[in-house]
Amino acid sequence: MYKYLLTVSTISVLLFMFSCCNSDALPEYETNKQSQHNHDFHSYANTSQVRTRHLHLDIEVDFNSKTISGIASHTLENMGFDTVIFDIKALDIHKITLDSPNGEETYFKTGTHCNTLGQALYVHVKPSTKIVHIHYSTTENSEAIDWLSPNLTAGKEHPFLYTQGEAILTRSWIPLQDTPSNRITYSAQVKVPKELMAVMSATNPQEKNATGIYSFEMKQSIPSYLIALAVGDIEYRALGTNSGIYAEPVLIDKAVYEFADMPKMIETAENLYGPYKWERYDVLVLPPAFPFGGMENPRLTFATPTILAGDRSLISLIAHELAHSWSGNLVTNATWDDFWLNEGFTVYFESRIMEALYGKEVSEMLTLIEYQELVAENEEIQKSQYPEDTHLKLSLDGRDPDEGMTSVAYVKGAFFLMTLEDVVGRAKFDEFVKNYFETHQFNTLTTEDFVNFLNKTLLIPNNIKFNTDAWIYGPGIPSNCRTITSNRFNLVDDRVNEFVNGKKATDLGIKRSDWITQEWMHFIRQLPSDIPVARLKELDAAFNLKGWGNAEIMTEWFLVGIAAGYTDIRPEMERFLMAVGRRKFIAPIYTALSRTAENKIWAKNVYQHARPNYHAVSFNTIDAILN
Ligand code: BES
Ligand code: ZN
Repeated sequence: MYKYLLTVSTISVLLFMFSCCNSDALPEYETNKQSQHNHDFHSYANTSQVRTRHLHLDIEVDFNSKTISGIASHTLENMGFDTVIFDIKALDIHKITLDSPNGEETYFKTGTHCNTLGQALYVHVKPSTKIVHIHYSTTENSEAIDWLSPNLTAGKEHPFLYTQGEAILTRSWIPLQDTPSNRITYSAQVKVPKELMAVMSATNPQEKNATGIYSFEMKQSIPSYLIALAVGDIEYRALGTNSGIYAEPVLIDKAVYEFADMPKMIETAENLYGPYKWERYDVLVLPPAFPFGGMENPRLTFATPTILAGDRSLISLIAHELAHSWSGNLVTNATWDDFWLNEGFTVYFESRIMEALYGKEVSEMLTLIEYQELVAENEEIQKSQYPEDTHLKLSLDGRDPDEGMTSVAYVKGAFFLMTLEDVVGRAKFDEFVKNYFETHQFNTLTTEDFVNFLNKTLLIPNNIKFNTDAWIYGPGIPSNCRTITSNRFNLVDDRVNEFVNGKKATDLGIKRSDWITQEWMHFIRQLPSDIPVARLKELDAAFNLKGWGNAEIMTEWFLVGIAAGYTDIRPEMERFLMAVGRRKFIAPIYTALSRTAENKIWAKNVYQHARPNYHAVSFNTIDAILN
């Protein structure tokens, strides 16, 4: 017997409930319900009543009109309700049919638009309805999609498109229940211009085909933020038996060289925490506009070309995205308040891969660089409007989940796990982590679920007391945090001291190739804030830091230069800001520039030209910085 708890007449009540992004406006009983620890504040979907089990996309990508249009077909599991609620943002819904694409049209309604969440899409269904077909197209405000003109690609001849779903942008290119707490399988048929190839977070082609029509399948269940598409003039090159690279033809050799260790990395990861469950692991190198370093789309990591340093020194990013194949993709945060479960575990796992492959000396330098960022950001957050953002468990209700993307989730999360490891010992801890992935595979988890599992399987059986609550629900960095030192960084510190005490840059006895990227980053970070411009010029003359070509080093250098009033860096910095859209680099640069009136004018002028080159994730952030 079905119960029709949600009738069409209750739709107007729902409309009222969701008319605002903030749940403050909800009736009291609804607020109570939302205070449950596992409620996803960032989705309108009623997945506990009706949920999608499988999604099929039949879409066409049109570079002329810059739209994706077609049908999103949802195979439902219905607990006996007559309305299914999807998330949409900046989508045109043409019509909705039941059970067959050309079938009977059904009644639907959209809720009020919210800047962060978009809108609820209410669709009337029958309890017997198996499939809902949503006929739709994207709009120019579909924020997930980046339409790149040929001049923004490496080859300069063909346009390029990629999508970025995490955290809640998938709803801007596909109408769906956009909550990580619901896992679905998906398939797709995608039509693209004949001279281009399409790839997704699914089974992928390895060659272009003459029709421009590509079919995809993702048989393992995934959260919606991991659905991704890219279209461009790309080619495939194998690295190992189950891994390879997709990149534009002019970049492929460089990428193959840079990522040569990928097969070894997969093996290392499996040796640590169990079998890789996604069959293939490939990496797609995107144009530099990509707003992130990497995105762990299953079977196909999307990566920035700024890690093609030429010396394999930024390969830890691949270790990170690969690690997400376990933490995040296999075991997923149930809500964005639990984001540290995805990222903290991944940074921990990443550093274990790096240690196993390249030794402790290297992995500790990487971790120290991140720790420095955590210390700085922790201080900043404590002074901000949301000091509780230094807790691992977040409270992002009414806010953009993007705001949880700080080094707290990443680095404090990882240090929590490292500290636990120190207390229980590596052997026991590794067994625990392996068991955690195994037990929760293809599931979603809240922080509270994690704490229960930790207590039950690790702390109680071993009779160990640990300040878990302080780490998860408390501020800042707890005092029992693992401390890390690096001899190689100490040697870098010695060079900094010599330089600060007057030694000439050319007498330091170092050349560019003596240090890896992280040692140079450390060197630049340790320079005193009141360093005279003449001394920065001296370093540039010796090492050409401003024109290095390595985005990590250049960004550190620009930040020091801006603070010191070293304006010679401007031509290089302008070129960098025009070409690179990775938010981790450009946001700090624009922030530093906005601190003086004169720099801000210069920055705004550059930004005017650079903004069209950026993905919405980045330009939304920079808009706010430069208002
Ligand atoms: N999953 C993240 C990227 C992300 C997080 C996108 C939240 C949107 C919302 C990805 O795995 C990541 O962490 N990327 C980092 C790389 C890294 C080595 C820490 C990045 O892009 O900088
Ligand atoms: Zn990550």
